[in-house]
Amino acid sequence: MIQPAFDLPIAALEKIRETTDRAPCASRNALEQLQSAYSVAASLPTAPDQREGGREAHVSPTSRHLHQTTANKAQNLASVRERVCSCTKCAHLASSRTQTVFGVGNPDAEIMFIGEAPGADEDRQGEPFVGRAGQLLTRIIKAMGFAREDVYIANILKCRPDMPVGSFGNRAPTLAEMQMCRPYLLEQIDIIQPKVLVALGAVAVEGLLGSRGAMRELRGRWHSYNGTPLMITYHPAYLLRNQSPSEKRKVWEDMMQVLERLGKPISEKQRNYFL
Ligand code: URA
Ligand code: URA
Repeated sequence: MIQPAFDLPIAALEKIRETTDRAPCASRNALEQLQSAYSVAASLPTAPDQREGGREAHVSPTSRHLHQTTANKAQNLASVRERVCSCTKCAHLASSRTQTVFGVGNPDAEIMFIGEAPGADEDRQGEPFVGRAGQLLTRIIKAMGFAREDVYIANILKCRPDMPVGSFGNRAPTLAEMQMCRPYLLEQIDIIQPKVLVALGAVAVEGLLGSRGAMRELRGRWHSYNGTPLMITYHPAYLLRNQSPSEKRKVWEDMMQVLERLGKPISEKQRNYFL
């Protein structure tokens, strides 16, 4: 009964291939899931509900086999990381970077934080959010009751935006750079399947959604990104520039919304932070 259900999407994909000049597109992860579901379906008896006890009928391939294990996810992330490492799509960034900065954390994370691009510290260490802004992000993650290793942290752009020789500081990535690199982030999201995405700052939002908005209107409410709940909040670097407690409190309120969405208890002490 299950196998014919796969004939439909496969026939549809074949039709697209034959009638258009653009090949149908699916992520590696989606293809792997389809492949494993297909082989499970093919190996099932034709009338599983008539088997002894009928128990098999209630365990769908979805719950039994489509769930990617942590090891699977780590493996799939490693293969994307390999492609990122040798990426030269932006020639100017490939030649200026020390190394690519892929992402760090739990392949099975419930929360994924998304920043804009590596800065000088990240370019040197190969890990996102390790500089001053990163240390503040780590403190926010801890205040939420997590360790850095529990969540996943990545940027839209995997290379540090290049700087004129002899100049200091970091520049924001351009929309074109972010659009070029965004497919890698999509693959990361697709593999990790976090319950919540958190976009940090206006540039990351622009990179994700393709349009620039006023942070004061975007932050603090739920958006959706390809079906995953998306919380938008200020970038930690903004909190370092603007030291007023009211701005810290706003970010904290956004993070409490994230905790609520995940069904995590919030202590009285946590509720009162930055008041
Ligand atoms: N700012 C970002 O957006 N990402 C980093 O990794 C570091 C600083
Ligand atoms: N403006 C920005 O561009 N980013 C922030 O995080 C906050 C205000």
